[in-house]
Amino acid sequence: MPKWLKDAVFYEIYPQSFYDTNGDGIGDFNGIIEKLDYIKGLGCNALWINPCYDSPFKDAGYDVRDYKKVAPRYGTNDDLYRLFGEAHKRGIHVLLDLVPGHTSEEHEWFRESGKAEKNEFSNRYIWTNFCFQPMPGYPYVGGECERSATYMLNFFKCQPALNYGFLDCKEDWQLPMDHPDCIATREAMKDVMRFWLDHGCDGFRVDMAYSLVKNDDEVRSGTCAIWRNVREMLDAEYPEAAIVAEWGDPQLSLKAGFHMDFNLNRPDNGYNSLMRDYGMPDKLHGEDNSFFKKDAHGDITRFLTEYLPNYEGTKEDGYYCLITCNHDTVRPKYNLSDEELKLAYAFIFTMPGVPFLYYGDEIGMRYLDLPTKEGGYFRTGARTPMQWTKGKNAGFSTGEADALYLPVDPAADAPSVESQEAEADSLLHTVRALLALRHAEEDLQADAEFAAVYAESGKLPFVYRRGDILIAVNPSTETVTAPVDAAGRREIFSIGKGKAENREIMLEAQSFLVLK
Ligand code: NOJ
Ligand code: CA
Repeated sequence: MPKWLKDAVFYEIYPQSFYDTNGDGIGDFNGIIEKLDYIKGLGCNALWINPCYDSPFKDAGYDVRDYKKVAPRYGTNDDLYRLFGEAHKRGIHVLLDLVPGHTSEEHEWFRESGKAEKNEFSNRYIWTNFCFQPMPGYPYVGGECERSATYMLNFFKCQPALNYGFLDCKEDWQLPMDHPDCIATREAMKDVMRFWLDHGCDGFRVDMAYSLVKNDDEVRSGTCAIWRNVREMLDAEYPEAAIVAEWGDPQLSLKAGFHMDFNLNRPDNGYNSLMRDYGMPDKLHGEDNSFFKKDAHGDITRFLTEYLPNYEGTKEDGYYCLITCNHDTVRPKYNLSDEELKLAYAFIFTMPGVPFLYYGDEIGMRYLDLPTKEGGYFRTGARTPMQWTKGKNAGFSTGEADALYLPVDPAADAPSVESQEAEADSLLHTVRALLALRHAEEDLQADAEFAAVYAESGKLPFVYRRGDILIAVNPSTETVTAPVDAAGRREIFSIGKGKAENREIMLEAQSFLVLK
């Protein structure tokens, strides 16, 4: 386990929308470099940068055309290497986004693979034997290539699936995982990892990490074997490199060698019940029962029932992490006020594992209702430019407004870093204070044990323990008490007001209390 993860706090950057330094309307590497001090000052000491490789951008860069070359719109490879160096000078680690399950249909490997004549890359992707042959159980495409065969997709139509083999081969075109051509795919991906690690990158967020081996079993034995193999390589060659899975199933991912996995927002799962229990923006179910919504009478046991077995079952293996949001998820500000967000973040930043803050969530950026961009669809509204100032284009770019990657929030009261710096009680200052607290208290970092102390369905507050620290949170508008004896402890942090006396913890409306 890389030691730096113990006190790591990640900041996720969608590079298109972070900071544009040459006025072309698109964020760039130099922009990230210029904002490293801001990120460090916030309390984040690690970055996850969404795919920044050469791409036709039909899925915002998750359709990689060249794994080893950055997209010119962000700068050059040398700019990215400089970003690694500048980040390291400030004690910031940098993860890139690795997309191992598929490439763009414009990747050189795919162009070769689609040729009629057999070559080194013929089996790099998954093909049937004939141009009209269906591929039962998987999405597939025909009629695009010279080769008379259909091929498998991993996500959108632009993303053909790479071939790591089948756990259970049912057709003669399905190769076993130990076929030399399937092993070659795995080795090619390790080669990509080595390339970036050798240039100073500190690891990877791994896209659709669960998706590699086809006809896999329920516990993903095939895919997990590949990740175990990758982890062996990392342990031997890059022991300080970290990998975080996009998986949402730590009992599989962390046992397969990932250092981290994170809770993903899925309708009606435990993580969803914390901040987003309202359906989807296009399919609202009318009512919001999110735990952190002040009048919703939220129920923390909906989160804990799912979280606890995952945490207990994997705490020796790695970190099951909490995120404020990501580029695929509606921003939490969509339905929560800044006061509600303060409590939600206070919870996320005092939980075990490694927290992830999505750029702009620290100022409560809104989710905007926008037409799709680069395959974003409903996700587009969570990918708008970072709002730095009250000035032109919210300080994101000096370019013309219609040249921007996406519009900035047009509201007169759109939050910005500048406006929130000036307000003593802003969300931004609260995030800073919370992260400073986490860095100061080892018991609030990744490893210290977590236990629910008072977590009753339909009752508040929720009280939990991290190591020797006791924490209580009350998202409601009423004063509440819990029968928890906190004698001898003192308050080291609070939002709102609360106190511990007479074997009770009392919290006023919308409060958060940390007792040591
Ligand atoms: C998950 C990524 O987070 C998402 O943005 C992308 O569209 C799909 N994987 C396909 O790569
Ligand atoms: Ca730019």
